[in-house]
Amino acid sequence: MSFPEGFLWGGAIAANQVEGAWNIDGKGWSVADIATYKPNTDVRDYKAHVAVSSESVKKAMSDPDDTYYPKRRGIDFYHYYKEDLAMFAELGFKVLRLSIAWTRLFPTGEETEPNPEGVNFYKNIFEEMQHLGIQPVVTLSHYEMPLSLSLKYNGWVNRCVVEHFIRFCRTCFTQYGKYVKYWLSFNEIDSIMRHPFITAGIIPDMCKNIDETASCYQALHHQFVAAGMATRLCHELVPGSQMGCMLTKLMTYPRTCAPEDVAAAQKKNLENMFYSDVMVFGEYPKMILRDLEKRGINIQMKPNDLETIRDGTVDFVAFSYYMSMTESVDPNAERTPGNTVLGVKNPYLDSSEWGWQIDPAGLRISLIELYDRYKKPLFIVENGIGSRDTLSEDGAIHDSYRIEYFQRHFREMEKAIDEGVDLIGYTSWAPIDLISASTNQMSKRYGFIYVDQDDLGRGTLMRIRKDSFYWYQNVIRTNGAELSYPANAG
Ligand code: BG6
Repeated sequence: MSFPEGFLWGGAIAANQVEGAWNIDGKGWSVADIATYKPNTDVRDYKAHVAVSSESVKKAMSDPDDTYYPKRRGIDFYHYYKEDLAMFAELGFKVLRLSIAWTRLFPTGEETEPNPEGVNFYKNIFEEMQHLGIQPVVTLSHYEMPLSLSLKYNGWVNRCVVEHFIRFCRTCFTQYGKYVKYWLSFNEIDSIMRHPFITAGIIPDMCKNIDETASCYQALHHQFVAAGMATRLCHELVPGSQMGCMLTKLMTYPRTCAPEDVAAAQKKNLENMFYSDVMVFGEYPKMILRDLEKRGINIQMKPNDLETIRDGTVDFVAFSYYMSMTESVDPNAERTPGNTVLGVKNPYLDSSEWGWQIDPAGLRISLIELYDRYKKPLFIVENGIGSRDTLSEDGAIHDSYRIEYFQRHFREMEKAIDEGVDLIGYTSWAPIDLISASTNQMSKRYGFIYVDQDDLGRGTLMRIRKDSFYWYQNVIRTNGAELSYPANAG
């Protein structure tokens, strides 16, 4: 068993979780800039944690400080990018997945010309990456839309946002097409139902004519149309480019073999894959349309929308995978948090400190399921474990738990490849500690590289290589042939 030659090993980050520099060089407000760090966040009550209102947005905007708004400061990648990219090159990265902050290029989203300082920032990054031999994988929208579009139009609910997004995409393709072959439209497009504001700028008290759920489906439809348009535009402006969809793969098993539990789990899985179904097959699944009809949700479509979706299908399927869940019809079944979800606990699995159930075999099952369903190349663009690392007295971070997590997942990837799955690459989340998307914590660390900063932004920002750094470096060097730790342990 082995990984194919040319396998795209690397890591993944997002602008709003690393860059900082939220209000300089012409950058505008993004939805991430008001994401609030709340000490003692209850991860079981995620909905309450991410609740927003027009009032709370205004309140956050009137606070110029970044102490409780960690995404404003990130890990200052804006100024440290050369140092960080050099460390990724030292790891041997073939690819780095990163996003382009829409508000660095178009501060309110409505400008007709991009901000030159923003354009230059990414140009410099891509040139540096080219120099280091790291290929970019670019996400066009990763939880960082212009706040102005949210406040003025209730985000993606309004059709006009499609046009603004496509102007941003066109700029990215023309400015950066010579550096970038792999593109992703929307990060975890399915997440709109779990956090409508973060994903699509939807503020509940602005949902006037239709309720929040119907607004989410309307906004999602606009994103599907925009993704179709972006795919076609990308192919036209960037010859040889590849566009992928990006799904949160939320694997759900039945809690028991009772047919009712099996049906409940099946429903969850079909709901989860509906998003990639649309982007791969180019049409809404009939059962989803039927379900929407039964729920009285009537998506407004323009005459050519279905054609745009049909003609803009993706070249590959990208997904994130962190954990799995089970489902049960038993209302008393014990629940545990996962990636912005609350699932039923699986007694066979251990969990991270945040309750996410660790399931390496679930990654293999997901790979086989997705490949069998879509028959397109697959790309794992996020996978990793959030933990509280400690700096030891010897000045090192001995993160054997992280190595073990990756090791077990890589073994399952190998098995899936051996079974015939076309897996083209893997980018870990995240190669360097950054601000958590869901809890806005710094202490939920994912990296091979430690960043000296705490939840309130105190620290030197010094970068330190963890034990896992050297382990992953060896994995990449041997193209996955040596997964044990220490590397020479056979
Ligand atoms: C993914 C997101 O769902 O999970 C990332 O695309 C995020 O942005 C990652 O950081 C891990 O989640 P969290 O909440 O632990 O940062």
